[in-house]
Amino acid sequence: MSEAGGNAGAAHNQASSAVRLTAIRIRLNGSAVADDVPPRLSLADFLRERRNLTGTHLGCEHGVCGACTVLVDGEPARSCLMLACACDEREVETIEGFAGDPVIDALRRTFHQHHALQCGYCTPAMLITARDLILRQRAGSAREIRDGLAGNICRCTGYTNIVTAIAEAARELRRGAANAQ
Ligand code: FES
Ligand code: FES
Repeated sequence: MSEAGGNAGAAHNQASSAVRLTAIRIRLNGSAVADDVPPRLSLADFLRERRNLTGTHLGCEHGVCGACTVLVDGEPARSCLMLACACDEREVETIEGFAGDPVIDALRRTFHQHHALQCGYCTPAMLITARDLILRQRAGSAREIRDGLAGNICRCTGYTNIVTAIAEAARELRRGAANAQ
């Protein structure tokens, strides 16, 4: 390669390695977190690689399987499709942040009782979606639960036990709320 060609290549490499970072501040599982992230870093990779929150799983990375579901500002979101820099000043909750949450606790219990998982790969996201369905009172029937789970793919269970577990957790929680009145 000529000297001119070599210099041009070096300049190109330098330019591509100088990716501009964006400063973000996120409320993550109840704690304030600050970081500098590249513009194309997904929220899923940020959570897994920078915060070690590996309960957020990656399946398709195309927004299809739902394995990467987390809550952003209280709404389920696919973290493979969101950029970390788009979460600046927002609240993000992953499965690791639900310790002591009564709905997740009920779901964990009924998933265990009804063998609603096999490999468990889809399970963290299933729990987050199921919690959202219960809280929005969209888990009143098997049909409603199946519709609500349409964006979460499980390759192992055939869904029957998942639907049973969610229906039972929803019933349990409704009974608890009625008894408390
Ligand atoms: S990994 Fe995000 S939807 Fe599949
Ligand atoms: S339990 Fe294996 S993918 Fe759902």
